[in-house]
Amino acid sequence: MTIDSSGPILFPQGFLWGAATAAYQIEGAAAEDGRGPSIWDVFSHTPGKTRNGETGDRACDHYHRLEEDLDLIAGLVPHYRFSVSWTRILPDGTGVINQKGVDFYNRLIDGLIARGVTPWVTMYHWDLPQALHDKGGWTSRESVAWFDHYAQTLLKLFSDRVKNWIIINEPSTQTFLGYGIGVHAPGLRGEADYAAATHHMNLAIGSAYRLAKAYDRGLNVGSSYVLMPVFAAEDGGDSGSVAILDALWNRNHYDPLFTGTYPEATRAAFAPFILEGDAEKLNTALDFVGIQHYSPAYARRDENGLFGINFGQGPDTFEKTDIGWPIDPPAFHGALMDQVARYGDHRMIITENGIALFDRMEAGKVNDTRRIGYYRQYLAQVHRAIADGARIDGYFVWSLLDNYEWSEGYSMRFGLVYVDYETCIRTAKDSYRWYAQTVRNNGLTQTQKDAA
Ligand code: GAL
Repeated sequence: MTIDSSGPILFPQGFLWGAATAAYQIEGAAAEDGRGPSIWDVFSHTPGKTRNGETGDRACDHYHRLEEDLDLIAGLVPHYRFSVSWTRILPDGTGVINQKGVDFYNRLIDGLIARGVTPWVTMYHWDLPQALHDKGGWTSRESVAWFDHYAQTLLKLFSDRVKNWIIINEPSTQTFLGYGIGVHAPGLRGEADYAAATHHMNLAIGSAYRLAKAYDRGLNVGSSYVLMPVFAAEDGGDSGSVAILDALWNRNHYDPLFTGTYPEATRAAFAPFILEGDAEKLNTALDFVGIQHYSPAYARRDENGLFGINFGQGPDTFEKTDIGWPIDPPAFHGALMDQVARYGDHRMIITENGIALFDRMEAGKVNDTRRIGYYRQYLAQVHRAIADGARIDGYFVWSLLDNYEWSEGYSMRFGLVYVDYETCIRTAKDSYRWYAQTVRNNGLTQTQKDAA
């Protein structure tokens, strides 16, 4: 069960192999079949907010290329994680259900199951209905009730076939970038909005978990979080700035989840939003914790930054992805083991990990050897963490397809499948064939098929 630099990657029997996407990043058809606007539609259409003004209006046109994408998924993995666009189901956030949106997800879910692929549904991947944002969005405590209603709607519609649920994707990315510093939707800034949105999302996770388990105890319900190890930056970092950046990206979510409290470094900001009884609502034993990791971060002091900190420079020694993120696989192992040390034994699933490269098609092929190398190294660290006692039951690559990378537009390619954004033609990269083979070496595609 070891991984060397060239041999096969073998994980324990039953390990879950998957690939992930998110609705706004791939679907397109933004104004079709009754879908209502989300905060990402409004934000991406606001001049100056995204690279080259790019939007998810068409994205990968997945909405119209469903059959082709289903075949690509089935050729790759036995588990597929996607998110539901809240406004395709409930265009105003609450109220009347849009049947055409339901039909689309039924086609997707049924198409996966027919191909022997298990669906994993993310309820919320950052695309809050604009109609709810207009009423305060996540900064309002009412958001917890809106989310409950939405979660209940999804469970009623799909949980006869969908048994694996991820409640919210990376709350800290949305609260830091979208409510703290304003570079993601909805573009708010400041510590109060940051803390309000963070607290309400944390409450929504606990609430939706209890609701889902009351609905059907047999469902497998978790939520996905950033796990970003933070170190002191070379340009003005110290232990205090590390504690704050670590709180903003990691601890302000894991601490309430596991202990019901917020960490010391930013605790004061939450006080105005905490009501009696919240600690019990936050503290939730999810069926699994989804872990999402890309790279470490380096914290520095910055008096103009949120809570007086910012991202700073790391050491030059690490290789970097094409978009400049440091590649430090052992730091991922360290972060996983640190989670176990802090919070005790719990079930984890890696629900995202991946690398952006400036891939190029040459003679009909995309030779992304560096992506394969990245995955080999990161899988080796996951494997090592399992051997060291971390309970990690699965791994999903980010992402199936190149897609709309939020405010970075289409510049960052994370896919195992290349997408030509002019024609929307898909081409499997070398990494796609490598990952499919890795999955087959672990025997799971066949196992899934046998079980189906
Ligand atoms: C995550 C996010 C994904 C994707 C990925 C790559 O934070 O959940 O939607 O954008 O990062 O940057």
